[in-house]
Parts: sequence; C-alpha cells; structure tokens
Amino acid sequence: MKKIWIIGAGPGDPDLITVKGLKLMQQADVVMYTDSLVNEELVAMAKPGAEIIRTAGMHLQEMVDCMVGFVNEGKMVVRMHTGDPAMYGATMEQVALLKEHGIGYEVVPGVSSVFASAAAVGAELTIPDLTQTLILTRAEGRTPVPELEKLRLLASHHCTIALFLSATLTKKIVKELQEAGWADDTPVAVIQRATWPDQKIVRTTLIELDEAMRVNGIRKHAMILAGWTLDPAIHEKNYRSKLYDATFTHGFRKGVKVDD
Ligand SMILES: C[S@@+](CC[C@H](N)C(=O)[O-])C[C@H]1O[C@@H](n2cnc3c(N)ncnc32)[C@H](O)[C@@H]1O
Repeated sequence: MKKIWIIGAGPGDPDLITVKGLKLMQQADVVMYTDSLVNEELVAMAKPGAEIIRTAGMHLQEMVDCMVGFVNEGKMVVRMHTGDPAMYGATMEQVALLKEHGIGYEVVPGVSSVFASAAAVGAELTIPDLTQTLILTRAEGRTPVPELEKLRLLASHHCTIALFLSATLTKKIVKELQEAGWADDTPVAVIQRATWPDQKIVRTTLIELDEAMRVNGIRKHAMILAGWTLDPAIHEKNYRSKLYDATFTHGFRKGVKVDD
C-alpha cells in the first residue's frame, strides 16, 4: 500500500528528533511541516533537492491534495509534526482523507513538549507516595472538552496535570483547580518554547498563575505543569521509590533481607 510518514519533530531543538525520524526525513522527496511550530533548522537537513512545503497557511483539503499528488507520482512524503504527533497533532483527519485515496500511513514518535518542559525544569512528574499519575489535557476554550473531562473533574485526582494549548485560559484553570480542592500554594511551572533558544521558564503557584502569565507576556507556545511534583524543594522531601529500595525484589535484583 502507498503511504506517507507522520514524524514527530520534537519540541524545537533540532537535536531532539529521533534517529529514525531524521533518517526518514533525509530520505524523503517531499517534506511537509508546520512552519509556525517545527524548527526550520531541522527541515534544512532534508536531502538536497527535496521539495519543502510549509503548511501553516494551508487548510486540510489543500494539504491532503498535495500529499496525494506527490504520493501518486511515486514520491516519498514525510509530514513533520511538532512534539509527538499523538498529542493534539490533528493527524487523524489527514489520515481519514488519505485513506479515501488508498494511501496509508506510518507514525514515528517524537519528544513531546510535555517531556521537554519537564526536562527544562528538571522535574519528575510521577513521584512515589505523592502521585503516580500524569494527566495530559487542555483547558476548555474555543475547542470544547467532553463533559467528563472538565478540568475540575480531572483535578479531583490531585495528580500532576500538564496543560497544552491553555496559555490564555489561566483564570479558568485556577478557578477549576481551586474548585477541585487544590491549595493556592500548589506549585506551577510554565515553560514557553521549551528547548528553543528563547525558552522561558516561570515558576509560580496556583494563586499567582494568571498574574505571572500576564507579567511575563506568555500567551502561546507554553506548557503549564501543575502539581506538587513541580515543587522546587521536592529533593528535600525524602520521597523514595520502591524500585530502588534495598528490600524490594524484582527480576534483576534480589532484595536484601531486613528484620521486621
Ligand atoms: C498543537 S499542540 C501540539 C503538541 C505537540 N504534538 C507535542 O507533543 O508537544 C501545541 C501546544 O503544545 C505545546 N507546545 C508545543 N511545543 C512547545 C514547546 N516547545 N514548549 C512548550 N510548549 C509547547 C503548547 O501548549 C502549544 O500550545
């Protein structure tokens, strides 16, 4: 079956694409990418003579027509998506239309901005005895969110929450997390353009989040990470995993016997 490649380009730093993604991009005859989000330095590594197509100004049908045209000419087409294509990649609508033309697809994962952001602030988003869960979501704005996924409901788990596409919705975020019982001093880290040369990090608290966004002029390209795993003093709090506990056995290590 004819196919296109959907490749995760990573969060910005061109070195953060996978080896597989880079190799495929360098073999491609056609590289399509969202110029507002994927780093041009990365796309510049495409093979000489490759057709480079910026898609930010195109609508869905235009993009798909373009892919279909090239694939039917026998060309190898890669579609570069920011971060990992599985998160807010709008890939399935492209795939559905391609299918009508008998064109399949294969996905190569990428480093999502959520993990690039966690790395930028040196955070682990799951900490033993604190939370073992990370929720990836967005606040409701123009794009509706299903009733059972309202932030207030998700936040009732008091785990770590990563908010994509929500930089202009911080008043709403604060209100919904407070309604779920989150303390005003819950740590929040905002990472704008993680891994780009102009990356900006703002560490704040739930109650100060909206003002911090305003003062720092952050209105887009930002990841909001909220919860106690973002506590800048987390290292002093002595949380320990079972995995590295001397008494915990697993397939690769026999536990040290301790007296009760
Ligand atoms: C359309 S979504 C794409 C997400 C992407 N698929 C991913 O895995 O990171 C765009 C949103 O992702 C987040 N984002 C993407 N790149 C980012 C970066 N370098 N730093 C911080 N947030 C980023 C922002 O929340 C932005 O509004």
